[in-house]
Amino acid sequence: MFYELAASTWGEEEKAAVEAVLASGRYTMGEQVAAFEREFADYFGAAHGIMVNSGSSANLVAVAALAHKAERPLRRGDEVIVPAISWATTYHPLQQYGLKLRFVDVELETLNMDVAKLEAALTPRTRAIVPVSILGNPAGLDVIRAFADAHGLYVLEDNCESMDAELNGRKTGTFGDLNTFSFFFSHHISTMEGGMILTDDRESADLCRCLRAHGWTRDLAPDTSLYQRASSDHFEAYRFILPGYNVRPLEMEAAVGRRQLEKLPGFTAARRRNLALFQKLFAGDERFIIQKENGKSSAFCFTVILNPARRPDREKVFAALKEADIGFRIITGGCFLRHDVLKYYDYDIVGRIENAYTAHDLGFFVGNHPFDLTPQIERLRDVLDKACD
Ligand SMILES: Cc1ncc(COP(=O)(O)O)c(C=O)c1O
Repeated sequence: MFYELAASTWGEEEKAAVEAVLASGRYTMGEQVAAFEREFADYFGAAHGIMVNSGSSANLVAVAALAHKAERPLRRGDEVIVPAISWATTYHPLQQYGLKLRFVDVELETLNMDVAKLEAALTPRTRAIVPVSILGNPAGLDVIRAFADAHGLYVLEDNCESMDAELNGRKTGTFGDLNTFSFFFSHHISTMEGGMILTDDRESADLCRCLRAHGWTRDLAPDTSLYQRASSDHFEAYRFILPGYNVRPLEMEAAVGRRQLEKLPGFTAARRRNLALFQKLFAGDERFIIQKENGKSSAFCFTVILNPARRPDREKVFAALKEADIGFRIITGGCFLRHDVLKYYDYDIVGRIENAYTAHDLGFFVGNHPFDLTPQIERLRDVLDKACD
C-alpha cells in the first residue's frame, strides 16, 4: 500500500534480541522483563513498572489493583468519569469491576475529554477519572490531576496511544496514580503484544505484580504490605492472596522492548517531523478539522474530521482514499456510545454528547510512522483537496 495505516519499526537489533532469548531457553517472564520494567520506569521517572501482555491487560490489572487497595478501594457502584472516545478496553475493566461510567464529551479540536465538563460530571459517588490522550495528543491532564486531587479521586491514566507525549514538560503517562501503556504493533514502540503499568505507589505496584500472575505471592518482595509471609516455603511457593489473572509477558517481548525503548526518542522526533508537515498542509483549511495539539503530541496518527458546516460527503472521501491507496480507519474506537456492548454497562451521560458523534460520523485517521512520510502526506493532501472541492 502507498500509505499504510501501520508499519513495522523493527530492525536487526530486535530480531537479534528475540534470537538471544530463544537461545537462552527462558521464554516467560524473567530477567528481560525485569530489566525492561526498570528501564521503562526510569525513562518516565516512575518508581515502579509492571509489564503485562497487552495495554488492555494493563488497564484490567490497574483497575483490579484499585479495587483491592487496603484503604479506599474502588467498590461496585462507584462512579468513574470517562471520555466518550477511547478504545473498548479502556472501559471494559471498569464494567467488569461493577463501576458506573459517566461519559463526558470530547473537544472536537483535541479529541480529548472536555475538562470544562468535569464539575458537571462529579457526584457524591465519583471515585475516579480515566483520562485518555487520544492518538498522541495530551489530554488536559494537568487540570484533571488538580481536579482529582481537590476531590479525592483516583486517576487511572490510559496512555496506550500517547507514549512520549508531553504536557508542560511532563510526560503523559505520569499524571495518574496508575498509568498504562501499550506496545502493540505500530504503537510508539512495539513488542508484538505487550503493555506496562507505571506507578509511584508501592502498594499499587505490589497489587499489580500479584494480580498479573495468578494472584500469588511469588513475585512480591518480603517487605510487601500485602501479606505476612508464613514459615513454610512449601506453602509460600504456591500461596494465593488475590483473585488474579495470568497476563504475564514473554521474555521475547521485553527483550524487543528494551531495543525499541533505546530508539524511542528518535522515533518520536521522526513522528513529529511528519506531524509538522501534516499541520502545515492542513492547518487553516476550514474544510478539515485536524487535531489541535495540547502540549507536545507524540503523533501516533493524523486525524481528519470533515467540517460538518460544509455538509461533507464522507463516502466520496473514503472512495478517493481507497483509489489513492491510502489506508484510513475510525478514530480510536469511535464514540463508545455507538457500540452494542454498551447494553452490558451501567452508565450515565454528562450533558450532551455531540463532538464524539461528529468525530465518529465525519472523522477518520491515517497512519504516522517513525520515518519520512513526505510523499504520502502530500498525496493525502492532494486527494482530500480534490474530494472536498
Ligand atoms: C486508549 C487505548 N487503551 C487501551 C488499548 C489496548 O492496548 P492493546 O492493544 O495493547 O491491548 C488501546 C489500543 O490501542 C488504546 O488505544
